[in-house]
Amino acid sequence: MSTKNRVLELLESRRGESISGEQIAGLLGVSRSAVWKAVRELQKDGYHIRAVTNKGYCLSAENDILSVPGILPFLSEGGRQYAGQIRIYESLESTNKTAMELAVAGAEHGTVVIADCQTMGKGRYSRDFFSVSGGGLYMSIILRPGSLRLENPASITAFAAVSVCEAIESISDKTATIKWVNDIFIDGKKVCGILTEAVTDFESGGLNWIVLGIGINVSIPEKDFPEHLRSLAVSIYPDKKVSGVRNRLSAEIINRILGHASPPVESEIFKEYKKRLMMLGREITVIQNQTEYQAIAVDVDAAGHLLVKNEKGKLLALSSGEVRISQ
Ligand code: BTN
Repeated sequence: MSTKNRVLELLESRRGESISGEQIAGLLGVSRSAVWKAVRELQKDGYHIRAVTNKGYCLSAENDILSVPGILPFLSEGGRQYAGQIRIYESLESTNKTAMELAVAGAEHGTVVIADCQTMGKGRYSRDFFSVSGGGLYMSIILRPGSLRLENPASITAFAAVSVCEAIESISDKTATIKWVNDIFIDGKKVCGILTEAVTDFESGGLNWIVLGIGINVSIPEKDFPEHLRSLAVSIYPDKKVSGVRNRLSAEIINRILGHASPPVESEIFKEYKKRLMMLGREITVIQNQTEYQAIAVDVDAAGHLLVKNEKGKLLALSSGEVRISQ
């Protein structure tokens, strides 16, 4: 890692505190002038680093630039193994698109693509995903199913949804719930969408690789959403400008999806998924192949299907489609 990034990592780990140039130089084993040069470069990149007489350098708590050194202090031991595979961009059309290109080119399991902003963020069913600079986290993770040790696509989706809920709760006091299949909700509104795209091996029929795309509204105020989304979407922090939180949230997601201490167990995943599912026992509208019908959401089975009872009392197992919760 360059001296600049090592200085940034140190300042990030002590955000809001001052640390002297001499101390930094000692900890990193570089000269004080190298530290000074690194700080100047970081300031040019937009980092608010104050030089306080007799105290040293202080990375302002308000700083919210996404960076690998900013993510590093929050990575668990398992998550750190993937630190070298995190790629951060200022702007991309879509992190899923870039991740898929990388996967085709042979990128490894655990490659993470993050963008501050997307110009053509993709949602499910070819919809757009609203993405703005500074207020959201747009992230795609390449998974090779053999490494993840989960083969069933439904369990991968459920694992991602549960992991993102836990990550959101670890950085805020919000409770995150799931709307089948994998929309994450806070206070009855959508805070995160997950788009899973995969390529299957033509001969074996197994999954070659998966791109898990996660889009989270972190601190977009209600007024900044397009009008048609205002009653549907919400941010983790809708009212206040928070700092550094996107780096931490990225790390918390990486820790859970990639850096887990023991391999995820399918039955445990569905148990957690079911606990967070906001619709069990409620009346829902099922939308499938351009038709809609009313049903009651009853359960999630061992294969991750949503079990619903239609108006004729017939039990149906849904593996795809979309649902709306009736008021
Ligand atoms: C949905 O709600 O329909 C799924 C939205 C998924 C959005 C994320 S943002 C990061 C990744 N890149 C994309 O283009 N889409 C996913």
